[in-house]
Amino acid sequence: MNNLAQAAALVFEDRFLAIPHNIFFSPGRINIIGEHIDYNDGFVLPAAINKYVCMAISQKTGTKCSIIAADIDDRYEFDLQDTLVPVDKMWVNYFLGVLAQLKDKGLPLTGFNLAFTSSISIGSGLSSSAAVECCFAYALNEIYDLGIDKKDLALIGQKAEHTFVGVQCGIMDQFASVFGKKGQVIKLDCNTLEYEYHNADFKDYSLLLLDSNVKHTLLSSNYNVRRQEVEQALAIVQEKYPEVRTYRDCNAEHVEAVREKLGETLYKRSHFVVQEIQRVIDAVEALDGDNFKRLGELMFATHEGLSKEYEVSCDETDFLVDAVRRDTKVLGARMMGGGFGGCTINLVEKGYEDELIEKMTEAYKAQFGIELKAYKVEIANGTSKYK
Ligand code: GLA
Repeated sequence: MNNLAQAAALVFEDRFLAIPHNIFFSPGRINIIGEHIDYNDGFVLPAAINKYVCMAISQKTGTKCSIIAADIDDRYEFDLQDTLVPVDKMWVNYFLGVLAQLKDKGLPLTGFNLAFTSSISIGSGLSSSAAVECCFAYALNEIYDLGIDKKDLALIGQKAEHTFVGVQCGIMDQFASVFGKKGQVIKLDCNTLEYEYHNADFKDYSLLLLDSNVKHTLLSSNYNVRRQEVEQALAIVQEKYPEVRTYRDCNAEHVEAVREKLGETLYKRSHFVVQEIQRVIDAVEALDGDNFKRLGELMFATHEGLSKEYEVSCDETDFLVDAVRRDTKVLGARMMGGGFGGCTINLVEKGYEDELIEKMTEAYKAQFGIELKAYKVEIANGTSKYK
């Protein structure tokens, strides 16, 4: 964290010729289980990780704003009085999307200088975009003393994604970034936004991410299509079972009963959703009871569903999961996040990580000619002020 703060401060000083007033952090996230069900009224089990977006910022008088993306050596300048609309530079939209909402609320903002850097690999399914949105929203909330609570900061981040980025995402990523807690996973009820922390002590096992290095560029379009499909499927279930208000009230029997009407695609999508909602409940029980073998089985089952029924995996992440399936030192693995690339999350016997990374790097290179990346992540605290 110190290095990142130093890097952000140095770029800030170099470009703005002043020391930044404040520095903020917001982490990326993993998700143990509960994929693609945050927007289907399920539960999810994410946690913040020790990879961060870091922003150095100073407020100014006047309405001019200047943002420096240190990692790609890019700069964007605008005036707060401009009408804020999405722009071609995607990274800028994370900022404008947040700012537009605060402006709409009529909050007292002034111009600012900002420089940011990140240790979250982009396009790997670790939610670097949510970390940017949440870090920025949190920073503005602090420096202008806006009095916005943490839940609303996460919701502002999510809405920025909807309105300026064009992905109709759920709330998991932003929530995890803001509410992360060291050593704890968050069981989030996406229906009510109630949440509880559960101990993330995997005892003899550790979490290892294997990054396929396939950037999930197909995600945004397919993501929105999945959302439409599950809505259509739910409407069909509701025709027969009006008492089913959301997927939370829906079970496999409901879906089976209207299977013909759903047709193959909608059946697969909704079948995955109801199964996955149950899997998270089972996974929390397994985690609380130190039953890691069971937790691992559930992770594998989630991957099957994501790959075959929800169809958001890809050859590369399927390969990474299949390759560890029969390895007795890997209890579970699955693709993580939105899909179409990114990382797999693996529950691995402690001490075996390096050997596994070596094996998998070789096998992956031989199969796809792509360099595998691996991250041994730690579960960390959420968005915070560094200075
Ligand atoms: C992306 C979205 C989240 C969630 C995951 C899939 O990361 O931003 O809201 O839907 O995909 O679980």
